[in-house]
Amino acid sequence: MNDIYRYDWAWFIKRFEAVSSINLTAYKRPQMERRINSFMRNNGLADYFELIQRLQSDKGTYKRFLEHLTINVSEFFRNPLHWRVLEDTIIPLLIKSGNRLKIWSAGCSSGEEAFSLAIMSREKRTELREPILATDLDSDVLERASQGVYRRRQVQDLPEWLIKKYFEEDKGLFKVRTELRSLVRFKQHDLLKDPFTRDYDLILCRNVVIYFTEETKQELYGRFAKALRPGGVLFIGGTEQIFNSRELGFVPISTFFYQKI
Ligand SMILES: C[S@@+](CC[C@H](N)C(=O)[O-])C[C@H]1O[C@@H](n2cnc3c(N)ncnc32)[C@H](O)[C@@H]1O
Repeated sequence: MNDIYRYDWAWFIKRFEAVSSINLTAYKRPQMERRINSFMRNNGLADYFELIQRLQSDKGTYKRFLEHLTINVSEFFRNPLHWRVLEDTIIPLLIKSGNRLKIWSAGCSSGEEAFSLAIMSREKRTELREPILATDLDSDVLERASQGVYRRRQVQDLPEWLIKKYFEEDKGLFKVRTELRSLVRFKQHDLLKDPFTRDYDLILCRNVVIYFTEETKQELYGRFAKALRPGGVLFIGGTEQIFNSRELGFVPISTFFYQKI
């Protein structure tokens, strides 16, 4: 083999999977390459070989690399207008005939989405069948999520009375109160590998699939359809759309909301 090509993309994704169990073939290559190259540049790493060596020997770099790769930015009530549709139209549809809800925030990052759901269910007195399941691939971001501690800028868009009601302020940090935290169960889970539990009324998978290949997205949406009960709803991100939703067993009921047939 020509030496130049020895540590190429194919070599890297194989070695990276061995180190992390993350299969990068399911993600869009150009985006991933761009992010990985910028990480290597910023960390003075000459090639994939050096990167793999560093990831194996330095836990701090490994953590930062995963964070860089998965881009776990989140917000409370991200895209507020879509949350309004959820509150005003979708939840009433789901609780018709006294149904108690089973909810999953898939790719929950640092927990804002799951806690937004918990706040909404408290405020609207929506009964939950079990705590909201909040999952992510990245165990570090989940650790942060389960602590439920946020900076002022992370809660700044919430009305002051909601902050007072659901967070304890301590030295400029805002900790989610225990009563709200008990409504959420965080769990490490890889959407591309791990089994899905079933019978959900509502699944949120927002701003997660943006780096997945088309084929991976189709497969994932199909699996979400199976995980929902008939009549259950999938809520997706503000830049996302499911083109062949009917083929997958959904009917679009509002922009960004798909109901399982
Ligand atoms: C941009 S955040 C989205 C957070 C939240 N859903 C929102 O919309 O604000 C994307 C999250 O997807 C997670 N993720 C990426 N690939 C994943 C996979 N295969 N399985 C589970 N989570 C994944 C990342 O770790 C990251 O925390």
